[in-house]
Amino acid sequence: MITKNVAVAALSVMSVASFAQSKKAMMKQLIQESFQFADQQFKVLMKDLPNDKVPQTYDATKNKVVNYDRTWWCTGFYPGSLWLVYEQTKDPVIKKEAERILDIIEPNQTYTGNHDLGFMMFCSFGNAYRITKDPKYKDIIFRSAESLASRYRPTISAIQSWNKNKYWDCPVIIDNMMNLEMLNWVSQNGGDKKYQDISVIHSNTTMKNHFRPDYSSYHVVDYDINTGGILKHKTWQGYSDESAWARGQAWGLYGYTMMYRFTKDSKYLDFAKNIAKYILNNPNMPEDKIPYWDFNAPDIPNAPRDASAGALIASALLELGQYTKGKEKNNYISTAETILKSLSSPAYRAKLGENGGFLLMHSTGALPLKSEIDVPLVYADYYFLEALKRYKDCYL
Ligand code: GLY
Repeated sequence: MITKNVAVAALSVMSVASFAQSKKAMMKQLIQESFQFADQQFKVLMKDLPNDKVPQTYDATKNKVVNYDRTWWCTGFYPGSLWLVYEQTKDPVIKKEAERILDIIEPNQTYTGNHDLGFMMFCSFGNAYRITKDPKYKDIIFRSAESLASRYRPTISAIQSWNKNKYWDCPVIIDNMMNLEMLNWVSQNGGDKKYQDISVIHSNTTMKNHFRPDYSSYHVVDYDINTGGILKHKTWQGYSDESAWARGQAWGLYGYTMMYRFTKDSKYLDFAKNIAKYILNNPNMPEDKIPYWDFNAPDIPNAPRDASAGALIASALLELGQYTKGKEKNNYISTAETILKSLSSPAYRAKLGENGGFLLMHSTGALPLKSEIDVPLVYADYYFLEALKRYKDCYL
């Protein structure tokens, strides 16, 4: 009897092990194939680009890639994606295109017109430096950090996201958490410690003022620049002021996981886990784990999806999985796997030569502004590639 039980136990250990092996082989194949695809697809995208602008999306009705000036918040994602692909494929054509775009956006290092310098300069030059170790890229990142830090407002204990206008006095948006990665990195790589101090203060203020008791977040908190008091909680890209705009939740998850990476302060890890709980247990999260554009969109299940939020969540969960154990870790990783499989499937990933040369379909930029609804978006591609790289580096 004992012998039989031992044999059954051994068999089940073996089948668990072989299941794990075949899952690994499948993910390895998916990742390899995705980078090969991206290498080819970006050659389609790069074909007719202007000399002074950076691609953002594709307008299928006009069969045209939509490009933006260098100070648009998304201009770091295309070169960043190219570097991520080059790292895997070593294709010189991809590298050359990445360098061409870096030249276009380099002047942003002294730009202080918004809080997006992290997106613009770290997704781009950060990857360029990580891969090439060329010191000129490091200098540019350092100068960009100083430009971003110039937007720190001591009266509100945070970095001001957008400038004052008829809607806002001193707005801070949840997205701003992402720009802290560059500040932390500079402080930990030979730069002034003040950047990390600002990041910590900003993160603490955002924890206090942007989040609801269920760990969903507001999009915009508008502060009184003189007193530091809160004027209002609003949305700009979400369904309503009280709703949970999907990408905003993803920015928060990624942002607090990243803050834990740099500080090792467990309050950020706990916070990220609570945001993950909100997202992963949300009754409106679809089975393929690609969120609707807002978790409270009124027309679910017919609401547009946001593949960019899905890609971001996958990338964030793959980092969070590195700081957790057991069931919690397994849940993060298996959700990220589901997202990566969904995004790599024909339901989300374009066919070679289509979609204007972008990788993914079905993202939503700003539905209330009637802008970029159910389209490819350059940052969906970036975080998809980053998630694939993270999976390869940490779980294969
Ligand atoms: N950071 C702007 C957006 O997520 O659309």
